[in-house]
Amino acid sequence: MRLKEKVAVITGAGSGMGRCMAELFVREGAKVVCADRSGRQDEVAEWLGADAAIAVQCDVGIGADVQRMITTAEERFGRLDILCNNAGFGGRMMPLHEQTEENFEIVHAANLRGVFLGMKYGIISMLKTGGGAIVNTASAAAVVGWKHHAIYSGAKAGVLQMTKSAALDYAEQGIRINAVLPGNTWTGLVPASQGNAAPPPGTRALPGVPMNRWGLPQEIAAAALFLASDDASFTTGAALPVDGGYTIGFSGMAAETSDAPEFPPPF
Ligand SMILES: NC(=O)c1ccc[n+]([C@@H]2O[C@H](COP(=O)([O-])OP(=O)(O)OC[C@H]3O[C@@H](n4cnc5c(N)ncnc54)[C@H](O)[C@@H]3O)[C@@H](O)[C@H]2O)c1
Repeated sequence: MRLKEKVAVITGAGSGMGRCMAELFVREGAKVVCADRSGRQDEVAEWLGADAAIAVQCDVGIGADVQRMITTAEERFGRLDILCNNAGFGGRMMPLHEQTEENFEIVHAANLRGVFLGMKYGIISMLKTGGGAIVNTASAAAVVGWKHHAIYSGAKAGVLQMTKSAALDYAEQGIRINAVLPGNTWTGLVPASQGNAAPPPGTRALPGVPMNRWGLPQEIAAAALFLASDDASFTTGAALPVDGGYTIGFSGMAAETSDAPEFPPPF
């Protein structure tokens, strides 16, 4: 019960990582506001039970929606202790010059403006009660380039830097602000962004990922739980990769390559 009597707001709680966070946080004793724009947050909250969870329809890119989401936590459960700014999506993937201005606006509205608004109104609430913990979902794409993801990775890099700077603003006021950086994780977002062409987890190796598999949303939720809980009481401004080693760097060449090309002797 690492979140006993804590009140948490989780955005993007209708699916994937956010849904897993909601389930895990309730198991750990929290009261949870499940926020999403999809409508799926209703069934998640219903499944978790009215004592533990409530659903809020919220587009995180809209200030009035985000304010209402925070106010709902205060009115229903009395305060706000934890905020997971997790909602986001990749948008259309293509080379940068083919991208549209409209795609830039909608991807940044959800991924970057949404985190700004969540932190702004969440922090106003937390300052009234003397502290809290914020966990922002950035991405491995915040720290390495992803082909055809320039708009998305730009937004996620913004999330990462906003996390660090805001952590400095509130370090003395009891508000810890950290980011989790998921790598390739098997959620609804993946087939949606790849034309439903991606393989299910475990069926195929994932090149470039040292652990050679997809991550699971439960593994991201576990990292968010750590950062949200008192286990991370001396941790702020951190960026925690949960990516099977993807962002470590070059992971070496295969030990045995029967078809290795002939190279000239090195200088
Ligand atoms: N799946 C991955 O491989 C991966 C990798 C790195 C980062 N991420 C990030 O993780 C987070 C969670 O994604 P997921 O993989 O669980 O995807 P998902 O599609 O399963 O869940 C995302 C949820 O966010 C909601 N959402 C999107 N835009 C919203 C908005 N403007 N307002 C309110 N709700 C909104 C969607 O309705 C959806 O329910 C996202 O921020 C995503 O960018 C995902």
